[in-house]
Amino acid sequence: ISLYLGVAIFGYLMGSVPYGLLLTRMAGLGDIRSIGSGNIGATNVLRTGNKKLAAATLLLDGLKGFVAVLLVKLFLHHGVLVAGLGAVLGHLFPVWLGFKGGKGVATGLGVFYGFAWPLGLLCCALWLLVAFTLRYSSLSALVAYAVAPIAALFLAGPLAAEAVLIISALVYWKHRPNIKRLLSGEEPRIGKKVAS
Ligand code: G3P
Repeated sequence: ISLYLGVAIFGYLMGSVPYGLLLTRMAGLGDIRSIGSGNIGATNVLRTGNKKLAAATLLLDGLKGFVAVLLVKLFLHHGVLVAGLGAVLGHLFPVWLGFKGGKGVATGLGVFYGFAWPLGLLCCALWLLVAFTLRYSSLSALVAYAVAPIAALFLAGPLAAEAVLIISALVYWKHRPNIKRLLSGEEPRIGKKVAS
C-alpha cells in the first residue's frame, strides 16, 4: 500500500507542474487564466497568438504524464496505472493553484503513451483527425477520450482500461463548459486569437 501511495504522490507532483502558466508568465504574457477560456492548457496558450509557447506547453504537459508512467514502469514495475492516474489528477487539481488546474488532454495522452504506445498513438491520431477537419480542440479531445477506454481494452488490457475510463470521465467532467459552448455554437475554433 505504501508503495502505491508513494507512486500516486510522485505522479501527482509530476502532473501538478502547470507548464502553460509558467511559460506564458515567463514570456511576459500575463496570467493565462485571465485569457480566453481561462484554461492553462496548450489550446488556450495558442489564443495568445504564440504558437511556439503553445507547442512547448503541449509537449511538456504530455511529457510529464509520459515520464511519470515511464519512470515507474522502468524502476518499480508496479503501480504504473496509479502513476498515470496521479499525473492526470495533478494536472487537473494542482495544489499550487488552489486545486484549479487544466483539462487533462495533453497529460492524459502522455499517460496513454506510457501505458501502451499504440493507445497513445491512436488517441493522438483521432485528436488530430477531428482537429484538422472540424477545428475544435475540445471536440477533438472528447472524441479521442470517448474511444480511449474501448481502445485500451484491446491495446493495454482490462485493468489499464479501467484507469483510462477514469481518466476519460475526468476529462469529460473538466470539459463541461466546452460541451455547453459546443452545443450552443459558441465554442471558438482552434487558433482564434483573443484580444488582449
Ligand atoms: O486542452 C483542452 C481543450 O480541450 C480545450 O481547451 O481552452 O478551449 O477550454 P479550451
